[in-house]
Amino acid sequence: MLSSWVLAVFCVCLVFLFIWIQKPKNFPPGPWPIPIFGNLFQLNINNPLKDLERLAKCYGKVYSLYFGRRPAVVLTGLKAIKEALVTKSADFSGRPENLLVSNVMEKKGVIMADYGPGWKEHRRFDIMTLRNFGMGKQSMEKRILAEIKHMVARLEKSVGSTMNPQTLFHDAASNIIFLVLISTRYDYEDQTLKEYIRLITKLSKIANGPWGMIYDMLPFVRYLPLPFKKAFTYLKILKQKAANMINQHKETRVPGQPRDFVDCYLDELDKKNEGSSFSEMQLVMHLLDLHFAGTDTTSNTLLTAFLYLITHPDIQEKCQQEIDEVLEGKDHASFEDRHNMPYTQAVIHESQRIANTVPLSVFHSTTRDTELMGYRIPAGTLIIPNLSSLLSEEGQWKFPHEFNPSNFLSEQGQFKKPEAFMPFSAGPRTCLGEGLARMELFLVLVTLLRRFQFTWPEDAGAPNFTPVFGITLTPKPYKMGVKLRHPTEEKHN
Ligand code: HEM
Repeated sequence: MLSSWVLAVFCVCLVFLFIWIQKPKNFPPGPWPIPIFGNLFQLNINNPLKDLERLAKCYGKVYSLYFGRRPAVVLTGLKAIKEALVTKSADFSGRPENLLVSNVMEKKGVIMADYGPGWKEHRRFDIMTLRNFGMGKQSMEKRILAEIKHMVARLEKSVGSTMNPQTLFHDAASNIIFLVLISTRYDYEDQTLKEYIRLITKLSKIANGPWGMIYDMLPFVRYLPLPFKKAFTYLKILKQKAANMINQHKETRVPGQPRDFVDCYLDELDKKNEGSSFSEMQLVMHLLDLHFAGTDTTSNTLLTAFLYLITHPDIQEKCQQEIDEVLEGKDHASFEDRHNMPYTQAVIHESQRIANTVPLSVFHSTTRDTELMGYRIPAGTLIIPNLSSLLSEEGQWKFPHEFNPSNFLSEQGQFKKPEAFMPFSAGPRTCLGEGLARMELFLVLVTLLRRFQFTWPEDAGAPNFTPVFGITLTPKPYKMGVKLRHPTEEKHN
């Protein structure tokens, strides 16, 4: 009897030893992880941002956490984030392996691709193409302005009443990226668009939600028929849809005369050199990646901007005065006008700071054994750049905890951008759609504010400024009142 007890205790100790988490030497400090779960119970899964802030106060700007047995290092504040992502960029620009998102995306496309020659080649191509090199006569600005006309027409239908802008901003951002990729926009009621967006939403809900977390933390459950399996099915359907879009696009293509991103990629495939990383499959994954990265991000930033503008009517009015003055006699705004609109620029940047759209960036990983601020970090460690911490860091902002455009204005009223403004991250992995996003935010905001006055409905109660957590932060649904500013003038042509 006694011997079987001893054997049982011995076996339990052995299992415990096997699952016990051993921290590497001189690894950043952090709360002690428990076997199997790591530090899961120290974080509020629904929104861990407050917990991450609390842990930074306790353990410092560089601290460790465990997701199951997987070690992670959280970077807080300008100094740590800059040193890792910019100064030591070659060590910190990898992407984590073996997470649900990396496995679903098979490391193809650009967002989850390894930091290597294939990613580099594609990233260079994407940036050049998005900067209008070779995208034909229709410039990026024209594509954005074309979509804005549809937004204006939709808003005109709501004049005198209220509307929830969420779907409009989301569909418009989606159309802008489709116009850049395949020169196509979908009507806001179009079922193809709705189905495509529905699949992406379902996929990111799984990747962001508890099933994604279970998949990432407990590798041994991956073979069970649990809901995370659906993420792979959804991606398969999305890939098929994207491939169909590309095939349809090929029917009207003239080689050497690209109309858009997909045509540029196909031209590149035609001259494909030995060893090139370009392929039809990569094109499909790029289409999905760019659409995914460019839709929720921009639309949630716009939603935040409008939430603050309708609850701060004095700021809205000041923007409108500046916009009216600068655009007097012009048909439409152009991106160049931003240089004459310091106040509006400050409001847009302040909206981005408050929106904190991608609070924890896309996770990075170390590409080799390295050091950061005196700590040793082994290769393959998950790195979480807490961009949220930068955007309200004490000492970096005049008013870190309130919506105040003065954060981006000098004493003389000139626009200036503090160093800690990094909503697009920094270093080699920094957002490659930044140029497009900035142009989109400016043109949408300026055009809509010129044409309409937006208000917080009287019967809507107190506004709720706390967003819903996810890869991107989403403002809680709200309604806004829409009025025409100059009912007799046709300024939106
Ligand atoms: C306000 C809008 C946007 C914000 C706040 C934003 C923010 C970010 C952030 C924080 C990252 C992670 C960078 C890192 O890993 O260090 C990222 C990556 C990325 N973004 Fe954006 N983004 C926005 C719009 C866009 C748009 C419009 C596009 C599409 C053209 C886009 C395409 C990408 C891509 C492809 C990556 C991955 C880059 C890589 O891994 O090399 N983003 N973005």
